[in-house]
Amino acid sequence: MAGALGMWQTLGLVLVWQASAAHSGDIIKKVVHTPWWPAGSEKTAESVGIISHGLVYMTAMMEVNETLQKTALQETWDVRDIALAAGANLSDLVDCFVNAPRGHADAVKAALMSAFPAEVQASPPAFTVVEMPGEYQFVYNSIMCVANIPDGGSKRRTVRKNGLYGVSARGLTFYEGAEAPGTISGAYEETRNIVNRMLRSSVLVDCTAYLASIQDAQAVRKAIVEVTGMKGFIQPSLTIVQATGLANRSLRLRCTAAEDDSRLRSVDTTDGKVVLTDSFAFASAQLDRNSTGVNALESLGKLFKYANVTLNDAISCSFFVKDQQKMLDLFGGFYEIFNKENPPPPTRGEYEAITECAECQVAAKCIAARPMEMEVHSEALRAVLV
Ligand SMILES: *[C@@H]1O[C@H](CO)[C@@H](O)[C@H](O)[C@H]1NC(C)=O
Ligand SMILES: *[C@@H]1O[C@H](CO)[C@@H](O)[C@H](O)[C@H]1NC(C)=O
Ligand SMILES: *[C@@H]1O[C@H](CO)[C@@H](O)[C@H](O)[C@H]1NC(C)=O
Ligand SMILES: *[C@@H]1O[C@H](CO)[C@@H](O)[C@H](O)[C@H]1NC(C)=O
Ligand SMILES: *[C@@H]1O[C@H](CO)[C@@H](O)[C@H](O)[C@H]1NC(C)=O
Repeated sequence: MAGALGMWQTLGLVLVWQASAAHSGDIIKKVVHTPWWPAGSEKTAESVGIISHGLVYMTAMMEVNETLQKTALQETWDVRDIALAAGANLSDLVDCFVNAPRGHADAVKAALMSAFPAEVQASPPAFTVVEMPGEYQFVYNSIMCVANIPDGGSKRRTVRKNGLYGVSARGLTFYEGAEAPGTISGAYEETRNIVNRMLRSSVLVDCTAYLASIQDAQAVRKAIVEVTGMKGFIQPSLTIVQATGLANRSLRLRCTAAEDDSRLRSVDTTDGKVVLTDSFAFASAQLDRNSTGVNALESLGKLFKYANVTLNDAISCSFFVKDQQKMLDLFGGFYEIFNKENPPPPTRGEYEAITECAECQVAAKCIAARPMEMEVHSEALRAVLV
């Protein structure tokens, strides 16, 4: 790097380099800190927030207060603190995922929404609430968000199309967990309906399906493969888990899409699938029979290798564990793999859910940051040389 910079300097390019390096869009992975999660916290725990390619990924926040409303308010303050640390604020949120106790999704959603400032309510992030237990039994819910960092003129934009709601920023569209309209028609038909509507405006790169019954997993896979295949699009990375309550629907499907498919790549291996956008690598969940999740994380590392990224590049992970009582085992495995072997660790969310593998204890899915597009730099270099 020093050598390259020296060369650029002699070419008179150093100013361009420095000016653009000030923008968050040029940061690949940078841990942020809050007053309550100071520098160094990430040495023993997860990162509270990570700036990557103009977005800030946040860890799942949870609070325990006297009432749901106070809990929600405190949680939005936590999210705000992380956003502020990254140069964003609550108005810049593009996506949030919330878990809630069975039968309480609507109440939790209402509490969090009303805790947001009015301007956030007027243009909310994609906001998916799924009923499933979280990290601890005594904690009601948690909230995990992503925000756009509004520097360098980057804008966030809401998308309302085909009965879907999403928020776009930095070339990605974060769709709110979607359901099929009308009466229950089964997982296969409902998945086809949702994916068809999403594919009308973008290409899906990463999806998580929350099912009423995990028995429907194969039907969901089949529907996604068929509908994306029919359009000639790549298939998204896919994680399938069972939720505890879905209010009369077969599934809720939460996806990230890319606006332009021209540079998308899907790396399909016997170990799983990674979908690549310019900025990120989205891996399908890896399963583990061991409650530490170490094997799942190691196979994620292997999968990432095909995409030329490593576990050091992980920015956000979600863990679905079969037995909440064994959450501490997972934290041990996370510490081993990330804090000790591949620091700094990603942000994370943990949930209790059954996965496609009945004997498995953990399903782990992570997003990794890709390095900067080298062509862009060589273009710049060429421009100067000419
Ligand atoms: C939530 O509880 C914490 C700890 O008791 C307290 O500091 C905080 O002010 C409470 N938040 C709200 C919104 O009441
Ligand atoms: C967030 O920052 C924008 C300017 O970037 C400002 O207009 C807006 O009021 C802020 N919102 C909140 C909730 O602080
Ligand atoms: C689910 O279906 C039952 C029976 O048809 C109905 O009473 C109930 O209101 C429905 N719940 C929701 C959330 O739509
Ligand atoms: C799970 O992994 C841990 C750490 O690698 C190991 O000590 C333990 O024996 C494993 N448990 C099972 C059931 O394989
Ligand atoms: C990874 O790097 C190798 C060697 O440079 C290259 O051939 C391959 O296409 C790269 N793979 C991806 C997915 O970028």
